[in-house]
Amino acid sequence: MSRAERKMDHIQFALSTGQSKKNMFDDIRFVHQALPDSAVSDICIKPKTGDLNLESPVFINAMTGGGGQDTQKLNGLLARVARETGMAMAVGSQMAALKNATERQSYAVVRKENPDGIFFSNLGSEATVQQAKDAVEMIGANALQIHLNVVQELTMPEGDRDFRGALERIQAIVEGVNVPVIVKETGFGISRETAEKLSCCDVSAIDVSGFGGTNFASIENKRRQKKLSYFEDWGIPTAPAIVEVKSVFDKTVLASGGIQDARDMIKAFLLGADAVGLAGSFLKIAMQEGEKQLITEIHSLYEDLAMMMTALGAKNLMELQKCPAIITGELAQYLTARGFN
Ligand code: FNR
Repeated sequence: MSRAERKMDHIQFALSTGQSKKNMFDDIRFVHQALPDSAVSDICIKPKTGDLNLESPVFINAMTGGGGQDTQKLNGLLARVARETGMAMAVGSQMAALKNATERQSYAVVRKENPDGIFFSNLGSEATVQQAKDAVEMIGANALQIHLNVVQELTMPEGDRDFRGALERIQAIVEGVNVPVIVKETGFGISRETAEKLSCCDVSAIDVSGFGGTNFASIENKRRQKKLSYFEDWGIPTAPAIVEVKSVFDKTVLASGGIQDARDMIKAFLLGADAVGLAGSFLKIAMQEGEKQLITEIHSLYEDLAMMMTALGAKNLMELQKCPAIITGELAQYLTARGFN
């Protein structure tokens, strides 16, 4: 099976498997403020994201690897959505285009559709410094995402089996490229211990990409005879992953993993995320309802964020991080067990 065919399988299986909603956001409850002293017209949702300089607190996360006509079409569509909504966009893994120059157009199309947009390049932690530079140059990227996907690789029949030296390669890439580097998971979460290691190599941001949304163990298990079912429940749910990373990483914290609506987003911001990324949910709307509907839904998300922030009395995302919230159930147990009180 070619890389492009495998990646199209990912898209089809991501759509049919859906989002598990096990990210523990349901264990968070807002505390209503009857005297919020706020106005919808006063709300600012522009995030503070250091050298990433995001305009919108929501971004399109990586999902278009593999190359081919379908990747090009989806990248073009998502880049236009990003242009119309002010969001940043990550392309999927560019390894296919580094290995085969005819695939470059499948990624470069994003810059053509949105010349002034904010784009993140994307490669795995096996990449060399030269590959990282080439990926950034290919789309004129504003930042580079390096993805960590040990569980996905292990579940893939043809996946990697040796993960030694990744931190050293990330360090070399941070030193070698001239754009900020974001390290992200792919749906299994980042722990405090991993975030501590990443703090030492000067990455600009960590995207926790936690458990509870798109599940690559389930997706890859659909493609194998002997199922590795133990990986399907593996991982740190997105809500506690934000707390894990925030506790030791003092730069930009991005949250992704099963975020579906403005309520999930507000909860991610309350826990300390600076911006949120969506892959599976946006993919579903793009593929099933089309480009126009996706743009409409994102404008509606912005409105919903402003409405909820008004009710909570938070004029901006920094104030939102200080709002009280009640944490119950499994999330409360998880945080206690890990010593976060
Ligand atoms: C992904 N994701 C991903 N991540 C990455 O860093 N490089 C990639 O090439 C891909 N490819 C990819 C394909 C498809 C079809 C999906 C749905 C996702 C992972 C993605 O960026 C994100 O980390 C997870 O999907 C969790 O977020 P959601 O989907 O739950 O919002």
